[in-house]
Amino acid sequence: MSSDTNTDTGNGDLDVVTLDLHDESEDTRARVRGWVEAVHRSFHEQTPSEEHLEKWLGVQRGEGAVLRGIWEQPDLPLAGPIPVATFGYFDKHLNTGASMLLVRMVTDVTVSPTHRRRGLMRRLMTEHLDEAARDGLAVAVLTASEGSIYQRFGFGVATSEQSVRIDTSAKFRLRRPVDDGGRVVLVEASSGWDSMRTAYGRFHEATRGSLERPGYYETWLRGYDWEDQSENRAQRIAVRLDADGQPDGFVVWAVKEVDDAYEVGVRDLIGVTPQARLALWQFVADIDLAEVAVANTPNLDPLPLALVDHRVVRVRQRPDHVWVRVLDVPAALAARPWFADDVLVVRVRDPLRHADGLFTVGVADGRADVTAAEDTVADVELDVETLGALYLGGVRVQGLVDAGRVTGSPDALERFAAMADGGPMPRCATHF
Ligand SMILES: CC(C)(COP(=O)(O)OP(=O)(O)OC[C@H]1O[C@@H](n2cnc3c(N)ncnc32)[C@H](O)[C@@H]1OP(=O)(O)O)[C@@H](O)C(=O)NCCC(=O)NCCS
Repeated sequence: MSSDTNTDTGNGDLDVVTLDLHDESEDTRARVRGWVEAVHRSFHEQTPSEEHLEKWLGVQRGEGAVLRGIWEQPDLPLAGPIPVATFGYFDKHLNTGASMLLVRMVTDVTVSPTHRRRGLMRRLMTEHLDEAARDGLAVAVLTASEGSIYQRFGFGVATSEQSVRIDTSAKFRLRRPVDDGGRVVLVEASSGWDSMRTAYGRFHEATRGSLERPGYYETWLRGYDWEDQSENRAQRIAVRLDADGQPDGFVVWAVKEVDDAYEVGVRDLIGVTPQARLALWQFVADIDLAEVAVANTPNLDPLPLALVDHRVVRVRQRPDHVWVRVLDVPAALAARPWFADDVLVVRVRDPLRHADGLFTVGVADGRADVTAAEDTVADVELDVETLGALYLGGVRVQGLVDAGRVTGSPDALERFAAMADGGPMPRCATHF
């Protein structure tokens, strides 16, 4: 445990502490337990059991995660080991569509209802972004429980999900059966992990927008339910093998009874190729006694276009998923794909300064050379949140121009769109 600083928010002194997860002292153990309880309480999850805490700690240590919290001074009446604010992060690779970029993944941002709106989150976030920039990270990412918090810190919505309900009755028919020589095999949680890891690794390599999965995925896919803090006995797994017998996908699901009927809840569906994904959706539709499947999925493609009756799929919501924050413009832009050779001067506005400035973006053969520019006029202007939204290609330049978020002359905007837009839509299947 290291006490980083004292902070006075006008509500008495508070300690900002970064936890040492290898420190077995009673005080640190109590604070670690308190930190996890604070997160569980904020997200309305059960108080962690000792066994749960051990599993969770093992994963966090394995990730090299940094966990920070703000505690009240211990001499205050009823002050205990549960912090009033939490903040965590670890580093993993993001597939930008052109390279694997190590990014900072921010997680477990909470502030106790007793200490809301006093600037604690702002303090943790701004200091953290300074630290990430100092550590040389070009990009930070997070997922958000609400839609209007993180723009002010320069994060933009870069990928989204779809919450879908699929009619898996006889109406579910593919125009052409999948015939690529692959097969789907039911496996047990105790034996399926190696295949799932291989399939996910292939998916991550092949998929723009994919984030490397943290270690808690392994614990979960081996059969531990993080939410219920118990062995997961309802969850089932099928692995898809390609024509060479190599894993190229899997689906994880649980069936539950809703209104006297069975519903297949798809919890994870990964397919490296369109054929693998179609084969897995066909498999879900073939599960007996259930005529409905529900899922949160990064992208349904190519299912709707492959069905005889596209109305079989109903999209209920399109929630945002990964928010991207560019910290180092030259490094971040050099790591993503580009689609037309040209040179433009781009002005990025960033109230927190990390990405602020004028940049010459020169594209040749799909890659950009980006340098800070001075004494020149910008061709195109945008703020850092918009740059984050554009980063993975999930929104196109024209849409942001129409919304007034990218400005410039019509000619410059057209050239910028030709340079920046293209390639597949991003697809991220990692939750954190
Ligand atoms: C969201 C949460 C972390 C905010 O913490 P906080 O300490 O109250 O936030 P701050 O006082 O530092 O506010 C920082 C800024 O964010 C804004 N903000 C805070 N919570 C907000 C919300 N829920 N919606 C919109 N804006 C919000 C504040 O108005 C403030 O804006 P400003 O600095 O530009 O004036 C806290 O409310 C919380 O723990 N919520 C439950 C858990 C959660 O949703 N976590 C986020 C998951 S990723």
